[in-house]
Amino acid sequence: MPAKKKPSTHPDLESVLVTKAQISRRVKSLGRELKRIYGDEEITVVAIMNGAILFTADLLREVDNAIRLDCIRTTSYGSATESHSAPKLVHGLTLDVTDRHVLIVDDILDTGKTLSLIAGMVRGMRPASLRVCVLLDKKGRRQVPFEADFVGFEIPDKFVVGYGLDFAERYRNLTQIGVLKASRQKIHG
Ligand code: IMP
Ligand code: MG
Repeated sequence: MPAKKKPSTHPDLESVLVTKAQISRRVKSLGRELKRIYGDEEITVVAIMNGAILFTADLLREVDNAIRLDCIRTTSYGSATESHSAPKLVHGLTLDVTDRHVLIVDDILDTGKTLSLIAGMVRGMRPASLRVCVLLDKKGRRQVPFEADFVGFEIPDKFVVGYGLDFAERYRNLTQIGVLKASRQKIHG
């Protein structure tokens, strides 16, 4: 018999991989990791929209460093659960990152294509340091070699939604991260 679902599970989810409480605890400890590495240095955070918005907003409130925040936007997914084309930068940096301590923040490291593109671009601008923080890491899916410096959770090769991650732009506002029911994986505009 399948395990009884907790009442708090969103009805469109088949299973919950990371609960709201687990996210909150891990975001706090990532804040402490950042503090350990950066000390009192100012950090220039580059968040990759839209997925990283919720994670970035919570993470930044866990560090008391001076922060400069910039957001960039890439595309690759369309609305499916499989990325079908190489990521492209559609909205670039507005802040100057040369000689700054740059921290790129994203929701999930999957094939590695997006973050290697962005990290390569930032590296070309000669920051004082460059690190990457992701909430989720699907290690088994990598197509280009790329590792993040800070990882919230390693997760299996499943398409997940919630806490910033979407399916066809839906479900970003879920407080938990879970696997969408197959019956919900239909694109409806
Ligand atoms: P990568 O370039 O393949 O590493 O993909 C990175 C981007 O793909 C992420 O920033 C997400 O927007 C998206 N992505 C990858 N896996 C998932 C998933 O399981 N759910 C939702 N979005 C995902
Ligand atoms: Mg994304």
